[in-house]
Amino acid sequence: MARLAIFNCKGGVGKTTTALNLAAALARAGESVCLADMDPQAHLTRIFDKLPDSPDASLFALYAHATPLRALLQELPGLGQLLPAHGQLMKVDSLFGKGPSTLNRLRIGLETLESDYAGHVLIDCCPYVGVLSLSAVFAASSVLIPVSSDYLSLQGAKQIDHALNALEPVLKRRMPRRYLITRFDRRRRMGEDIRRRLREEVGDDLCETVISENVAVAMSPSLGKDVFAYKSDSRGAQDYQALLDELRAANLI
Ligand SMILES: Nc1ncnc2c1ncn2[C@@H]1O[C@H](COP(=O)(O)OP(=O)(O)OP(=O)(O)O)[C@@H](O)[C@H]1O
Ligand SMILES: [Mg+2]
Repeated sequence: MARLAIFNCKGGVGKTTTALNLAAALARAGESVCLADMDPQAHLTRIFDKLPDSPDASLFALYAHATPLRALLQELPGLGQLLPAHGQLMKVDSLFGKGPSTLNRLRIGLETLESDYAGHVLIDCCPYVGVLSLSAVFAASSVLIPVSSDYLSLQGAKQIDHALNALEPVLKRRMPRRYLITRFDRRRRMGEDIRRRLREEVGDDLCETVISENVAVAMSPSLGKDVFAYKSDSRGAQDYQALLDELRAANLI
């Protein structure tokens, strides 16, 4: 089963949106999926209205008390499971350090969970490089990097590629990765230009699929829904289905 970290150190590029809708595409295909919210902003957790009162009911407990992940799972009807976030996650590095025990905690937690739960895990990361996002990368079988269609995002994507390459000696493998262009506006030439330049930069690691700027994608989370549940015939739903098909064909899911 895949463990996909959805990461970009730039904010607002569509990480949470992609976690939500890729999970929904998997669920619609009859596959089990667990969303792990590793962002202290807890946007994904909030979409489902599952923000726990206590940090001990969130992924924070994995670090604070070594709570097994199966004890933290929340059911998402029709979708799968959620490992919720809490704002206290922000304090993980200051409270528990940046050493291997912290960095490997999520990886070991997910490996242990595999004996109880045989589903894909999509990890929604926070928008900065730190203990939480590195933990997610260490736990992942591959990384999906959403890149929104603007020039600053292009710069950020190059930095991520260098950062992932720098981790190779630690990971002892090249981390499989895919860059995904999000918020693509077919009417603007800039989008095509960014696509071409990103292709030059990362070659075949760029997804063929692009996620269009789409009202249904933007609207659905405010109703606690994924784009398929909100408008299954929308462009956004078609794009996220195409993304799943492409990741499957590449054996990344
Ligand atoms: N394809 C899309 N079409 C229209 N709006 C989109 C699309 N993808 C994302 N958005 C909107 O862009 C905003 C940022 O998206 P999202 O929260 O998924 O980004 P993020 O990378 O997770 O942000 P953060 O770094 O803060 O966690 C949201 O308002 C979302 O609804
Ligand atoms: Mg997010």
